[in-house]
Amino acid sequence: MCGIVGYIGNDYAVPILLSALERLEYRGYDSAGIAIIEGDKLVVEKKVGKIRELIRALWGKQYKSNIGIGHTRWATHGAPSEVNAHPHTDERGLFAVVHNGIVENYLELRKELEEKGHHFRSETDTEVIAHLIAEYYNGNLFDAVLKTVNRLKGAFAFAVITPLEKDKIIGVKKGSPLVVGLGKGENFLASDIPAILPYTRNTISLDDGEIAVLKRDSVEVYNFEGVPVSKEVFVVPWDILSAEKGGFKHFMLKEIFEQPKAIADTIGGFLSQDLTLPFEINRINRVITIACGTSYHAGLIGKYWLEKYTGIPNEVIYASEFRYADIPVDENTLILAISQSGETADTRFAALSAKEKGASVIGIVNVVGSSLDREADFTLYTHAGPEIGVAATKTFTAQLAILYLFVQLMARRRGLIDRDGFYRAVEKLNEVTRKVEKALELNGELENLASRYKKFKNFLYLGRWLNYPIALEGALKLKEISYIHAEGYPAGEMKHGPIALIDENMPVVILAPRDRVYEKIIANIEEVLSRKGRIITVGFEGDTVLKNKGEVFIGVPEVGEDFTPFVNVIPLQLLAYHIADQLGLDVDQPRNLAKTVTVE
Ligand code: F6R
Repeated sequence: MCGIVGYIGNDYAVPILLSALERLEYRGYDSAGIAIIEGDKLVVEKKVGKIRELIRALWGKQYKSNIGIGHTRWATHGAPSEVNAHPHTDERGLFAVVHNGIVENYLELRKELEEKGHHFRSETDTEVIAHLIAEYYNGNLFDAVLKTVNRLKGAFAFAVITPLEKDKIIGVKKGSPLVVGLGKGENFLASDIPAILPYTRNTISLDDGEIAVLKRDSVEVYNFEGVPVSKEVFVVPWDILSAEKGGFKHFMLKEIFEQPKAIADTIGGFLSQDLTLPFEINRINRVITIACGTSYHAGLIGKYWLEKYTGIPNEVIYASEFRYADIPVDENTLILAISQSGETADTRFAALSAKEKGASVIGIVNVVGSSLDREADFTLYTHAGPEIGVAATKTFTAQLAILYLFVQLMARRRGLIDRDGFYRAVEKLNEVTRKVEKALELNGELENLASRYKKFKNFLYLGRWLNYPIALEGALKLKEISYIHAEGYPAGEMKHGPIALIDENMPVVILAPRDRVYEKIIANIEEVLSRKGRIITVGFEGDTVLKNKGEVFIGVPEVGEDFTPFVNVIPLQLLAYHIADQLGLDVDQPRNLAKTVTVE
């Protein structure tokens, strides 16, 4: 959802900005650009398309600048074009701005500035920021930025440079993420940590309503009143290797294979975390889970576990639907806000609105220091490491792990299980790590299967109970990276409508582990078979009943009934990956998508 970077130091800025942008490309890839101060001049270079286009355009231009800002765009206001690409400048070309987020009152501001004689070139909301800064500039960039931020409505993060003050980059955060990286004689600014990992692991996460002034040897942070704020330095636990492909063709494949480690690290992190909750757990009589996309699917599975082990009713609601609905929430409600990035606007704002009504909020995030992490009353962390592929994989199974552990914690705190029961549950989850490792051995089989099924235009995914959300997730993975239409459905609902779609052109992937709904799903398989459906079943290895039904049987390692989602999602992730790869698509950066969606 747009990535911004900044560098000030003693090295050449251009290669650093480009490499940092490449690490943020998952946030958007409609266009890219940089602004540097070369001598006494501001130089702006931008290109439509991916960052490699910008790199090509810069080839051979030997800029010597040591200060610059950069941007990779996911278009919101204005089509992807060179004129709409960032950085944007005022009309004299003195102030360059890169921006992530939306300035909601930009039309009003633009009109006001046009009346004062400003001329705008692009259709973007960002351009007003550059013009406003120019309008307010009176020899002090910080003052101009301060005046500007107090005029802007919406959620945004931006960075600005000017050749009039060559010793600084100013970064502003309100609603969209921004992190400062601290180096020796150099400092960095970025929307997300992977951008700066090759250079430093010492970071400062800006809070909403803060402005950072980066110089070569110092970083100062102020609030929007211009008062200095003292900030803690956070040492990022991720290393640079975790943000590299490590020999895999794509980040997505690497991340699929990292799942056993992600689950194990999440268990380890949970056991070593101080789990003192800042609210009385026994007064909670209702849990509402809010999340989007894949995180929402994890929440659906968490609901089954929570209700099974604690009896507390748990609704799971899309965050984008929660905020504007009249859902009763009070101080006895616990909100579970699940977000890999911790920056998804829908999830954050839904959590904040519930908090205002008195609910307690537990965030489940992968990115420590992210906005949701700081806004929640308490955070549980998935320790999946950075996820670069746009399609979520390892963070999904890590979310499942943390949800399962949280449910056991709730059961323990409410006296429903004893200490031994709690640790037995943890041990069972630990064993799942090995089963997931085994399920990954199916990779070759799924690669072959992909070549057989990649030609189909529609897929149906069916599952019941814990595997209904896995059907949704399998369908989401396929559509987002292969652009093949796919639907996930509760298998029992099929006869109420979707069965009409079944014919020999519609592969039907059916999740059928031997669990409490096994007999029912076998009946659903028969229904599809009798309509000449092409069935791919996923069940426990050695299941002879399934082997004799349908075109293909994928055998996953047997696990206890709570844990079937962990092993069943693996072949679905691999199927989606290989189909997209064999279709020659850009697996890690599918069209129209961005990893972190910071607009509503
Ligand atoms: C799907 C995917 C998205 C995200 C969704 C929420 O593969 O990645 O559907 O799950 O945008 O993102 P987070 O979890 O960062 O809030």
